[in-house]
Amino acid sequence: MPKKAAHKIVVGNWKMNPLTLREAVKLAADVAKNLKTKHTKVVICPPLVYVEKLSRIAKKLAIGGQDIFWEDKGPYTGEVSGEMLHSLGGRFVILGHSERRALGETGIEINKKIKKALSSSLTPIVCVGEKEREHTHEYFNVVKNQIEECLAGIQKNLFPKIMIAYEPVWAISTTKDRKDATPKDSEEMAIFIRKTLSDLSTPQTASKVMILYGGSVNEKDAGDFVRHGGVDGLLAGRASLDAKKFLEIVRVTDAL
Ligand code: PGA
Repeated sequence: MPKKAAHKIVVGNWKMNPLTLREAVKLAADVAKNLKTKHTKVVICPPLVYVEKLSRIAKKLAIGGQDIFWEDKGPYTGEVSGEMLHSLGGRFVILGHSERRALGETGIEINKKIKKALSSSLTPIVCVGEKEREHTHEYFNVVKNQIEECLAGIQKNLFPKIMIAYEPVWAISTTKDRKDATPKDSEEMAIFIRKTLSDLSTPQTASKVMILYGGSVNEKDAGDFVRHGGVDGLLAGRASLDAKKFLEIVRVTDAL
């Protein structure tokens, strides 16, 4: 299989934090001012209301959203389109996060959003991941089905514009009775995801898709996940709300 692109990526998913624009500006500025990378793209996905301001002040960071709707404009109260996010300076968007799936978002909806993200010049960071690991290994099928649903009808030549974030729900920091995932867990799923992508396109195309790991990534285990987890980058939630921890995650990723 040909070699993947050399660069790596670290994404911070701020979720619905922090509480004020002022705190958001401070956090982004603290990250931006100490950011030094050679091979790593750093993306912050704040709540939408902070996107415009942060994309203006934190030029060293790429900014993304946490969701979009699948139409450009119209009678969709409460929704925001990919075009709108892009016009505010957003360049990435997290789609299909397990917290949105838990609120009822379906694979069909995520698929429409991915298509719209691509046509709005946004890079979709598509989250997949099982809720639990049964010893029957059914979780591989869960992830395969999620990927197939998400990518249905998308031209193969667009796959490299999509990133897949493997986030086992049982390892996310806010999951009740959560467990630690290991780099081995990440590695075997990353291989499986690449094989699934390869079956849907070609090995060459699949090798160009960036795969991320997310689920309680912190400044201590980030290096292990990037080194042994079979992934091109990381998606950090809680740790991205602490500039020092997030910068350390970026530093160890970039050093590898
Ligand atoms: P966490 O969140 O790092 O706090 O587990 C990751 C995510 O849910 O994207």
